[in-house]
Amino acid sequence: MNQSKKAVKRPDGRKVDEIRKVSCKAGVVKNADGSAEFIIGNTTAIAAVYGPRELYPKFKQDPSRALLRCKYNLMSFSVSDRKRPAPSRRDIELGLVIKNALSQLIFLEKYPKLAIDVFIEISQADAGTRCAGICAASLALADAGIQMRELAGSIAAGALGDLVVLDLTKEEEDYPEGATDLPITYLPKQGLITSLQLDGDISFAGFKKALKMGINKCKELVKLQEEALKINYLKGDKK
Ligand code: CDP
Repeated sequence: MNQSKKAVKRPDGRKVDEIRKVSCKAGVVKNADGSAEFIIGNTTAIAAVYGPRELYPKFKQDPSRALLRCKYNLMSFSVSDRKRPAPSRRDIELGLVIKNALSQLIFLEKYPKLAIDVFIEISQADAGTRCAGICAASLALADAGIQMRELAGSIAAGALGDLVVLDLTKEEEDYPEGATDLPITYLPKQGLITSLQLDGDISFAGFKKALKMGINKCKELVKLQEEALKINYLKGDKK
């Protein structure tokens, strides 16, 4: 892959490793045990965490660890074509992807027999919703005071033709010459990638470059979450 060719320019003029404007906030759903909002460009994710709490029916209880459950929902009005409100196959799959990405974050063994429920609602979607959902959930879990190893960063890397980029918009994902989507979730302290998906084609050199760019950005996203947690803690309105 030859980046010097630069055959493609990003529609919004961003640099290849520049992500959209990010803002994140903890403590946005007062009824939840923990919550957060994560906004990246025109994508907005809200996460609410309930638990650790009793798990029924009892046969689902695991005496060695908590059961983590994650529900992802793309709201009907979040996209330009109205999405049917019932959970789609995509919603169910993304719930599972997010659960797997988050499992390594939490000391699940500290909460035997209990359940931790994570609800992710996407109120506005312009690509990158699974990654925004994971960042929101990571912050919401910490806001809930759940014992965690660390926070998780998540971002979609990818490519527009031969150009390796970060944080594709929906317009970029629909790039006619072919776009590649490579969402990454990374835990910086453990040096662990807990989710990595690939939709499209990419050369091995491009893949390595995208991975490196994505991991560096995940580290920055974790720092932003730490800031948001501090701000919410200092506000002192946590239950
Ligand atoms: O959102 P993410 O990139 O994680 O997942 P995707 O399945 O690659 O979806 C990309 C984008 O397609 C979403 O963020 C939405 O903007 C759009 N989409 C849509 O318009 N209608 C749907 N039913 C699903 C996705």
